[in-house]
Amino acid sequence: MTATIIDGKAFAETLRGRISDHVADLKRDHDITPGLAVVIVGNDPASEVYVRNKARQTEEVGMNSFKYELPATVAESELLRLIMELNIRKDVHGILVQMPVPEHIDAVKIINAIDPAKDVDMFHPQNAGKLMTGQLGPVSCTPLGCLMLLRDLHGDLSGMNAVVIGRSNLVGKPMAQLLLRDNCTVTMAHSRTRDLAEVVSRADIVIAAVGRTQMVKGDWIKKGATVIDVGINRIPAPERGEGKTRLVGDVDFSEAVEVAGAITPVPGGVGPMTIACLLANTVTTACLINNLKPPSDLTA
Ligand code: GUN
Repeated sequence: MTATIIDGKAFAETLRGRISDHVADLKRDHDITPGLAVVIVGNDPASEVYVRNKARQTEEVGMNSFKYELPATVAESELLRLIMELNIRKDVHGILVQMPVPEHIDAVKIINAIDPAKDVDMFHPQNAGKLMTGQLGPVSCTPLGCLMLLRDLHGDLSGMNAVVIGRSNLVGKPMAQLLLRDNCTVTMAHSRTRDLAEVVSRADIVIAAVGRTQMVKGDWIKKGATVIDVGINRIPAPERGEGKTRLVGDVDFSEAVEVAGAITPVPGGVGPMTIACLLANTVTTACLINNLKPPSDLTA
């Protein structure tokens, strides 16, 4: 059997179409143009690509994009000052500080300084607490993207066994909360889990977000399971020419595709959904800040 390849790129394009419609409605009916501020510190090439894509797609759906590029040597106090300024600006509804930040900057301090109402990443402890206690609102971008793909494929996830590999605040923990909210039986596994292969073999849904290149093998996966690969790892690709590289996930795709029922590719799976969900979250926060009901088709 060969798995259905889940086309995250196409799904994200459809989602961006819905976002454009909601942005147009907000402008026409309420004179509100959602605005997203993205802050990048330093010049990590991968982060620069992400930030450029975020800014371009923000504008493509009709929202305002504000980009701040700070040098790697910027003082923590200077970054905090910028966040304070963005917190009070009326035309900014979402603030994202691209992670990781340089070592001399305390990432926790930065996350905690962002107004929770404008925290489109949902990294602020207040927002993490809301997710944990089931309060409605925006949801972290990558887990939201994964959930949308799963619901599109399966409809109701009730009673399914889901294994989340990876316990990061960014993906693993919010993902597990969302799956629990959708009535899955959730197991959180991680790099220290004993007999990970056996744990994964029980899963109807596998979310691989552990950050280890092609770690999840085909013979770990239950026949017909759905595999969502969140990993983005760059590996050498000499077959493409000297010094060339390519992106692979946390799952050994060529093995898994023979066993799984459905699988996300890397690239073109979860990645495009993350940015689309960031835009969706900016519409949601723009609505909530203005005491409007957010569109139900843009959140979980
Ligand atoms: N770095 C990699 N992914 C993300 C993300 O989703 N949000 C932020 N703020 N930084 C990231």
